[in-house]
Amino acid sequence: MQIHTTLESLRAARARVGRVALVPTMGSLHDGHIALMRQARAHGDAIIASIFINRLQFGPNEDFDNYPRSFEADCAKLEAAGVAHLFAPGETAMYPRPQRYHVDPPPEQVSILEGAYRPGHFRGVATVVLKLFNIVRPDAALFGKKDYQQLMVLRNMVRELALPIEIVAHETVRAGDGLALSSRNAYLSAAERAEAPRLHRVLNRVRDAVRAGDRDFARLEREAADELDRHGWKTDYVAVRRQADLQAPADENEPLVALGASRLGRPRLIDNVEF
Ligand code: PAJ
Repeated sequence: MQIHTTLESLRAARARVGRVALVPTMGSLHDGHIALMRQARAHGDAIIASIFINRLQFGPNEDFDNYPRSFEADCAKLEAAGVAHLFAPGETAMYPRPQRYHVDPPPEQVSILEGAYRPGHFRGVATVVLKLFNIVRPDAALFGKKDYQQLMVLRNMVRELALPIEIVAHETVRAGDGLALSSRNAYLSAAERAEAPRLHRVLNRVRDAVRAGDRDFARLEREAADELDRHGWKTDYVAVRRQADLQAPADENEPLVALGASRLGRPRLIDNVEF
């Protein structure tokens, strides 16, 4: 695997390959990220992964400085997954001067759910992803459903700006007990790790109730959040939304998703289930 830390080096390498599938990450890679790399094989002649902890998408009180970093181990995992090129720019390669042009997603997509708790987050995500797209010029790019709202925002950005890139979604990769894999799981104590699968369980229960005909979303959401909080969580939201735009469900037959975000000890965990 070749490691590129400058735009010039990455661009020169990119010019030598045909179809490229890009998998953007912030490193600290786990099996969820690696599953995206494996799926990427079907979408390009070469896989380009990126590792860049993007300051723009972290709020002032978020964990940018403490975001887990494990570059050597990440490289070994990428190599084993058959990744041809890693783009790992430093801060000054990516932002040689302060980034003053941004992608501003529409408020109705980013003032809700994660965006309500992380102002500016999706602006930072969309801006860095557009920049990565312009540097790498991939034919396809892969993102996980774990970050459901991120996937929606990026799909819409690609559509509305007519970017010639196919966005490919990967299912959420989970531990055997249902906990969605996340770099932030490393911050859970042993007791918290045992408790953590509850988030997935309560979302599944909401799904089952709706499927059985219960459309009192507000009550279902409240009950789910209360159960988490009774077990030591600090829940930001549990919400039933339609898949297409994450707005409140309207009609009976539209595809739905139950999403949740809650803090357990130090980390804030997110998860969702489609139905
Ligand atoms: P990061 O959190 O490192 O995630 C990189 C990619 O891996 C994202 O598309 C995310 O949805 C996916 N992913 C993480 N955990 C997953 C899991 N358990 N199952 C399936 N996919 C999973 O998301 C980001 O980085 C950043 O916002 C980024 C898009 C790189 C822009 O900075």
